[in-house]
Amino acid sequence: MSKSATNWSEAGDGFTQAFYVQQQAQLWFSEEIPIASDAADWRALSPAERQCYTRVSAGLNAMDTLQGEVGMPLLAAGEEDHQRKATLAMFAFMENVHARSYSMANKTFLSASEERDAFEWIEAQPHLQRKITAFRRLYEEGDALTRMMASCLLETALFYSGFFYPLYLAGQGKMSHMGEVFTLICADEALHGTYVGLLFQERFAALPEDEQAEVRARFEALAREFYENECGYTDEVYAALGLASEVKKFVRYNFNICCDNLGLERLFPDEEVNPLVLNGIRTTGGTTHDFFSIKGAGGYSKIAVTPLTDAAVREAWDA
Ligand SMILES: [Fe+2]
Ligand SMILES: [Fe+2]
Repeated sequence: MSKSATNWSEAGDGFTQAFYVQQQAQLWFSEEIPIASDAADWRALSPAERQCYTRVSAGLNAMDTLQGEVGMPLLAAGEEDHQRKATLAMFAFMENVHARSYSMANKTFLSASEERDAFEWIEAQPHLQRKITAFRRLYEEGDALTRMMASCLLETALFYSGFFYPLYLAGQGKMSHMGEVFTLICADEALHGTYVGLLFQERFAALPEDEQAEVRARFEALAREFYENECGYTDEVYAALGLASEVKKFVRYNFNICCDNLGLERLFPDEEVNPLVLNGIRTTGGTTHDFFSIKGAGGYSKIAVTPLTDAAVREAWDA
């Protein structure tokens, strides 16, 4: 096999470069957002509200860990094209940035024992464990089309049971720096879901009709199975706050976006979704993510960095 290199002067498939550049433009790190400024808001939340926030973040951390370690790297490995591999590898990098931001939030707002409890809760929560086990198997044992389907389902639909609460609070002016973190994560996931959806559509279109029908049926069965699982998860996590039915509406809304990304028929009828939450994901016209107004549009700003001088370096060595 010849050893080649990535050539960015070539147009390639005509869309991958745009996604690479967009992910580059969206690049962010949790250290750039002053999440500790939410400490007073955190203290003002009730114990049930704090527990819900902690648990949805813990669940999302587990999913992002799976995407960063398994999902995106396997999607990248399944592509031949260098530009596509580079784009999916950059997505994988961002999944780890997402997972880290959840962990940094734990470190900021929780005591050591609360932090330990949150990680233990992940390993004991049955819906979460079922989801991680099933998606890991789909990635490791499935073909390319199955992996793409799974990735879209996870990122464009199943994440949203977790995203609801932080966006809901941020929409009311509470935990707004963390809200910015979630808005940035949602923008990344929207980019990933759109891109992987396009890769799926390309492979799907090349299949004969009978195989397309089989893939369509497989997607629907998988989506319905994990919608049920997500409802069980939502009932447990949101029970104390009485928000479960609102959250499920938001999850169904995002299942439909997942279907749009994959070019498949929507699974649920259209419904009104809480505007406070929709504002946090900044969608335009109901389904299309507005990628271009995210970074710098809200409270997000780069942290001030003091350049290191030679004198400071000498002083550090002399100390
Ligand atoms: Fe992610
Ligand atoms: Fe993602």
